[in-house]
Amino acid sequence: MNDLPPEFSDQFLTEFDQLLSWRRDVRSFKKNPLDEEKFEKLLIQALKQSPSVGNSQPWRAIRLKTSEIRKKVRAHVEVEHQQSAKIYGGDAVKHYNRLKLHGLDTAPEQLAIFSVKDPQEGKGLGRQTMPETLVWSTIMAIHTLWLKARAEGIGLGWVSILRADKMNEILECPAEWQFIAYLCMGYPEEESQTPELVREKWQERVPTEKLILHR
Ligand SMILES: Cc1cc2nc3c(=O)[nH]c(=O)nc-3n(C[C@H](O)[C@H](O)[C@H](O)COP(=O)(O)O)c2cc1C
Repeated sequence: MNDLPPEFSDQFLTEFDQLLSWRRDVRSFKKNPLDEEKFEKLLIQALKQSPSVGNSQPWRAIRLKTSEIRKKVRAHVEVEHQQSAKIYGGDAVKHYNRLKLHGLDTAPEQLAIFSVKDPQEGKGLGRQTMPETLVWSTIMAIHTLWLKARAEGIGLGWVSILRADKMNEILECPAEWQFIAYLCMGYPEEESQTPELVREKWQERVPTEKLILHR
């Protein structure tokens, strides 16, 4: 069957571009909760609509609901944050320590995303030469969620200052699940078209000529 696709208007394209330029990694959240039904729908849609190698959909999302389990993650991030600071010296370490690198204390929704290492689904299609395509698929699902959330005014912040094996341990996940990301979600405290790390003078955007090459 040949379904009739919609025609995306110029206005939609402009708005889509705005969505991309207003999507931010968010570290400061308002404490008010997200509407449960709306959030669950957002999550389901993002995880159902994303592309994946062999249509394997290897991603698994765990919603961290209790403060006990969140505290365990928080404590682990604190340890790794301090450990990570050790690669810097002088002014850089002061600068690093001034940065806000997660919203774990306020984000009303927190998710751990895993990727199944060798799922039945997909029957191995497309991943024989590059098994890492499973992880790439999971990362695409995260990006879909990131954009869909922002379109609904919900911010997402990716926390990676932690150890994958520790996350499996804290969340009691099987070894076949590879930890990928910890996501904080909620309504942002502030909005900007400029990434926070640019605003904080940590890292400028990489110039276009470095990103696109011609052969
Ligand atoms: C794989 C990945 C891991 C990240 N980990 C962190 C993190 O641990 N802490 C943090 O503050 N931001 C983290 N970020 C967000 C980036 O810092 C952010 O995307 C980048 O500075 C550009 O800003 P923008 O997302 O607002 O455009 C991560 C982003 C990605 C894609």
